[in-house]
Amino acid sequence: MSWHSSITEAELLAKGVAGVEIDGLRIALYALDGEVFATGNICTHAFALLSEGHVEGGCVECPLHQGLFDIRTGKAQGAPVTKDLATYPAKVEDGLVWVDTEPAAAAGGEAPAAAAAARRSDSRRLVIAGAGQAGAETARAARAEGFGGEIVLIGAERHPPYERPPLSKDLLLGRTTLAEAHVFDSGEAERLGIALRLGTAVTAIDREARRVTLGDGTELGYDLLVLATGAGARRLSLPGAEDRTVHYLRDAADAERLGPALRAATQVAVIGGGFIGLEIASAARALGKKVTVIEAQDRLLKRLLPSEAGEFLAWVAGQNDVALYLGTAIAGVSPEGVTLADGRLIEADLILAGIGASPNDALAREAGLPLGGCRGGCRAPGPAAGRGRCGRAAPRQKDGWRAAAPSAS
Ligand code: FES
Repeated sequence: MSWHSSITEAELLAKGVAGVEIDGLRIALYALDGEVFATGNICTHAFALLSEGHVEGGCVECPLHQGLFDIRTGKAQGAPVTKDLATYPAKVEDGLVWVDTEPAAAAGGEAPAAAAAARRSDSRRLVIAGAGQAGAETARAARAEGFGGEIVLIGAERHPPYERPPLSKDLLLGRTTLAEAHVFDSGEAERLGIALRLGTAVTAIDREARRVTLGDGTELGYDLLVLATGAGARRLSLPGAEDRTVHYLRDAADAERLGPALRAATQVAVIGGGFIGLEIASAARALGKKVTVIEAQDRLLKRLLPSEAGEFLAWVAGQNDVALYLGTAIAGVSPEGVTLADGRLIEADLILAGIGASPNDALAREAGLPLGGCRGGCRAPGPAAGRGRCGRAAPRQKDGWRAAAPSAS
């Protein structure tokens, strides 16, 4: 025990959340339902102070990418945050908030231990097809919820599970490495008893026999099967698209190709003014390239953001010397660049298409699984949907604005 006094209770009550530094530790304090709580103040996703975040429904929302943490337990509530916060005992005495800087429990420490004990008596095997962030988080959550059987996480990419947002930003600019974006800490998968089968995908499911076939020909039985096969970049179907390189950005291999090509390019044409397109435009401008963004809708991110936010993003793009063509159809691409429907040519030695994603549902389809409900604009629930005390049905719309603004600048 190592109790330290911090701010006054009145000060915390007035703010609801406050950041303090005790013993060299950055700690966030919260006043919630007549009690006080303390967690680490630095988001486990990247560097952001949670004391500057939004508190709602027992959760704190990170101001940078809207990751959610349960204030009472420190538990990360889903992507983009995957690692729990440390929590600290806190109390009020003599009008002051006191914090014990010995962490209450190593984040996630008890559940794996319990699961390890349970593993000895659970003979089931959980197979997860798809080793992206969703697959990895499913494996981690299964352990955290006490699943004690074998867990096998299977993915076509040779990389361990990683987060995708850095692909279009820091990774592309060489400011970070893919290892920094890995979902599991070093040794974590082994500690949790999660077997990674990488570089080979599940290619078929025999539901009757409860068995999957992998790309390398091996077969694996399962008691439980999760499909987390994600989505792929939607491809351009335009005249000329077959005859020249058009870049896409969906996975690490795409980023490995795009990074050097972007550095070598002088004029970049981005087809699609969505998040990916704007991120790439931003990265290309950071590298000093001439950038044009061509968007079929009459404003940026029209389906996701209110008009004020789209207009703001267009203004930011203009301030950063990005040429914007909104409400503009494309006739085709050629070695010279992009030809607009009105015949104008946007010269480009690098073309990137960010025109959305299509679900990788072939495996489920071939296995005869019903695929209703996600046609023509499915929506995922919010990161905390259905999760304990701080569940929230869906992200607030301004979340997207807050995420988009720094990216576009
Ligand atoms: Fe907190 Fe990304 S820094 S969610």
